[in-house]
Amino acid sequence: MAFLDKHKKIETHATLLMVLSLLVVSIGGLVQIVPLYYLDNTIEKVEGVRPYTPLELAGRDIYIREGCYGCHSQMIRPMRDEVERYGHYSLAAESMYDHPFQWGSKRTGPDLARVGGRYSDEWHQDHFTNAKSVVPESVMPPYGFLANNVLDGRYIADVVATHRMVGVPYDDAMVENAQADFMAQANPDADTDGLLARYGDAVNVRNFDGRPELTEMDALIAYVQVLGTMVDFTTFIPDASR
Ligand code: HEC
Repeated sequence: MAFLDKHKKIETHATLLMVLSLLVVSIGGLVQIVPLYYLDNTIEKVEGVRPYTPLELAGRDIYIREGCYGCHSQMIRPMRDEVERYGHYSLAAESMYDHPFQWGSKRTGPDLARVGGRYSDEWHQDHFTNAKSVVPESVMPPYGFLANNVLDGRYIADVVATHRMVGVPYDDAMVENAQADFMAQANPDADTDGLLARYGDAVNVRNFDGRPELTEMDALIAYVQVLGTMVDFTTFIPDASR
């Protein structure tokens, strides 16, 4: 057939075959890549996802400083065994305010993407102080020293402002009141109206570590208790099925 004869020319001519293959592959590539430049955001917006409060942000920094990501991932993959064990698979929106993200690739311990609310604050305090006291076979190292490190939120406005620089939508009031919000979240007797107005009524306000001072333990527990709790999965409908 004439058509196949023509194709034979391509197949027997290495340079021509290479040039034409490259052409075809680049068209495919352009079709996939170019539209992305015209989208402001490729992450589907999901109700409930909000920037971290200053105290949670500080806890997140402690999480990174202590290398918790070396043993824990924060991404539930959409596979049956993971969803049954950890809950709804992670949504892109749930880590859209994470700079850097904490997806991780190592699971010496369980995934933490939805650990928020699964245990009490006291459980976390016991667990961080001596993991074996609550999980006898645990190999997790002790972090009790965090309770001795008192925080005053001196630098937290700068941390919030830095996250704003990389795209987290903190407004001026959030930056200006960062230190006050930081202190208020761990103190149930404080005036928390501003904090709740800025970050929503669902914010956990309590003395996380039970000590009078605000410590790194408070910040870390505030952080782990919010993980995976922002989206209400009883009402969530993925975009694709609308
Ligand atoms: C050497 C590895 C290792 C490191 C580092 C580590 N963990 Fe763990 N973690 C584990 C293991 C193993 C478990 C499971 C046994 C247990 O519950 O103690 C665990 C369990 C947990 C749990 C309970 C999860 C659940 O669903 O039961 C939390 C929360 C947790 N770790 C938080 C942290 C935080 C926060 C840090 C950093 C301050 C940290 N871990 C550092 C190994 C580690």
